[in-house]
Amino acid sequence: MKKIDDKLSPVGNSVKKITTSVLQQMKQNGEKITMLTAYDFSLGSLVDHAGIDVILVGDSASNVMAGHETTLPITLDQMIYHASSVIRATKRALVVVDLPFGSYQGNSKEALTSSIRIMKEAGAHSVKLEGGREVKESIDRILTAGIPVMGHLGLTPQSIYKFGTYAVRAKEEDERNLLLEDAKILEETGVFAIVLEKIPAKLAGEVARSVSIPVIGIGAGNEVDGQVLVLHDMLGINKEFSPRFLRRYSNLHDTITEAIGDYIYDVKSKDFPNENEQY
Ligand code: KIV
Repeated sequence: MKKIDDKLSPVGNSVKKITTSVLQQMKQNGEKITMLTAYDFSLGSLVDHAGIDVILVGDSASNVMAGHETTLPITLDQMIYHASSVIRATKRALVVVDLPFGSYQGNSKEALTSSIRIMKEAGAHSVKLEGGREVKESIDRILTAGIPVMGHLGLTPQSIYKFGTYAVRAKEEDERNLLLEDAKILEETGVFAIVLEKIPAKLAGEVARSVSIPVIGIGAGNEVDGQVLVLHDMLGINKEFSPRFLRRYSNLHDTITEAIGDYIYDVKSKDFPNENEQY
C-alpha cells in the first residue's frame, strides 16, 4: 500500500475526525480530498480504516447493491438502512448520504423532512442532493435545521430520463454557463462542497477556482479539489462498467470468482473440511 505521509496530507493527518471545516482547510491548503462510496458495514469499515476523508452513501446503491438500471428506484428507507450500517463502521471519515429521487423534489418541506430522517435514523453527518437553482429553496430550508448539504452538478443521474444519455455534460456554451452560475448559487446558499460529475476537465477547474468551497470530481479531471469514485467500480468487482474516467485499483471480480471456484472444488472433492477444520 502506498504510504500517505504528512507531506501529502498535512491537514488530514493532523485530525482525528473529518468535518466540513477540515475539508475547507484542505481546499485552502491545496490538499486533495478523497471520497469513495460505501453502502454497508464491512466495506464501510475498510474504507474508513484505510483513511478516506469522505464516505458517500450514494444512491448508486440502487445500481450496485440492488441491480437496478438507474438510481431512481431506491427509497428513503433503503438509503437510511445503508447509511446506518456505514455510520456504525465509521470512526474518522465524514459520511455524506444521498437524498434519493422523490424524497426532496416535491417541495422544501419534504426535502427537510427527508434530511431529518437521514440524520436522525441513520446518524449521518450530512446529506447530498442533485441540482442547482431549482433546489436552492430546499437547501436553504435544510440548512436552517443545521444539516450540512453537499451539492451535485453536471451529469446528475437522477435526471437520466431528461438527459437520455450518460454522455459528458456541459460541452455546449449554454449548459456550461448555467453550470457555472449554479455552482455560484450553491456556494452562496451555503453548501459545504459540490460534486461535479462527468463534465470537461477545463470547466471543472474553472468552477473549482471560482468558488471558495471544495469541488470534488468524478470524471471531471484533475483541476478540482478532490476525487470520488464508486468503490465497487474502482475495486474491479464490476467488470462491465468501464468509463474512461475510472481507474481500477484491483480486480476483485476475478479474485472473488477464483476463491469461490476453489471453495466449490474443495467441497465437491471432499477436501474441505479437513481434520483440523472440524470439532
Ligand atoms: O451515488 C453516487 O455514487 C454518486 C457519485 C457518483 C458521486 O452520487
